[in-house]
Amino acid sequence: MKGMIVYKSWWGSCRKIAEAIGQGLSESGHEVQVVAIEDAGPPDPSLDFIVIGAATRWPGAWPKIKRYTKKVVKAGFAGKPFATFSTGGTVNDEKPLTQASEVLYELLDAGGLVALAPAFKAAIEGYKAPGKGEDRGILPESEVARALEFGHELGGKLSGL
Ligand SMILES: Cc1cc2nc3c(=O)[nH]c(=O)nc-3n(C[C@H](O)[C@H](O)[C@H](O)COP(=O)(O)O)c2cc1C
Repeated sequence: MKGMIVYKSWWGSCRKIAEAIGQGLSESGHEVQVVAIEDAGPPDPSLDFIVIGAATRWPGAWPKIKRYTKKVVKAGFAGKPFATFSTGGTVNDEKPLTQASEVLYELLDAGGLVALAPAFKAAIEGYKAPGKGEDRGILPESEVARALEFGHELGGKLSGL
């Protein structure tokens, strides 16, 4: 199948997760383009599936990636498979709908797309907000490996459709 991964990353961690998921999908025999939202054109309804992800900033998802996700729904993706992912410093993680992947998942699910898997949440280790020690933290290699596995899982599910 042919699809696209669209992501928003500020400091590069979410890009690494997007690329690992893309690698997993390609290794499973699917054709996938991994594109930063800054370079993404309008959603192409001829694609078979879509994967959207973002770094979590403030509880939830950044308005521009939410707008893009809503455009996907309007572009005629209803009934097509989707998945979402995000990175987060696990700030507010105990509350529902605070990680970007969960918010994006809700939008696509409500728009009639079909989830391939639950939202994939990668944890940034050691993130500290300004005023609370300020630290960008690091994305552990184990999270990148988990994202590759997630890509394989999605690929397997797509092949079975
Ligand atoms: C302004 C700002 C707000 C953030 N808010 C949250 C948040 O609400 N929840 C959370 O888990 N992480 C939060 N983070 C941590 C980011 O999710 C983390 O820096 C990001 O996932 C790293 O991905 P990137 O390298 O692709 O930018 C915040 C980071 C910044 C800079």
